[in-house]
Amino acid sequence: METAAELFDVSPVVPVVVIDEIEHAVPVARALAAGGVRIIELTLRTPVALQAIERVHTEVPEIVLGAGTVTTPEQADQAARAGAAFLVTPGSTDRVLNAVAATGLPFLPGVSTVSEAMRVAERGVRELKFFPAEASGGVDYLRAINAPLPELRFCPTGGVTPESAPQYLALPNVGCVGGTWLTPKDALASGDFGRVEALAKAAASLR
Ligand code: 3PG
Repeated sequence: METAAELFDVSPVVPVVVIDEIEHAVPVARALAAGGVRIIELTLRTPVALQAIERVHTEVPEIVLGAGTVTTPEQADQAARAGAAFLVTPGSTDRVLNAVAATGLPFLPGVSTVSEAMRVAERGVRELKFFPAEASGGVDYLRAINAPLPELRFCPTGGVTPESAPQYLALPNVGCVGGTWLTPKDALASGDFGRVEALAKAAASLR
């Protein structure tokens, strides 16, 4: 995976994954892959997240593995060292984006306004995360900004559901959507990876 544009072509839905127990990392990744979803945004929100990235990187190589919730330069470096193939930020500060860009990995910078999108576009970035999608205006907002910013494409994330995903995916400026619904906390806690696989299968056929 060399460019952010290629990330948008792997799956219509990018699962946003929160790993609380390190033992869940590999089975979750395998279940998603078995369901036909070969990409993950694994969030740096828990103490085991970096270790989870290392394990999935080593043991489930068929997954295009990204690190999400990158909010500091240190996290960008740590995620790259752990084996992340791409990086995702919830928002876009110069400090974080400079560090993310310096890793050489493809990345999706998070934006929720036209001015933020224009700022990151000045760096040559064309693929962005639109976060938090629903709270920031959702489908209507993205449709409206396609007129002035037709060269930009988004991965809306935050409040997207299996019901709203097709509406986002129908927009010309949406490449994929992201969400946590493929990996429900209770399914992981009870070891119900079959449910994760079934949710992945449904998500993979959304486009
Ligand atoms: C993200 O970081 O993208 C969000 O936490 C997604 O969460 P949601 O799909 O549960 O809204």
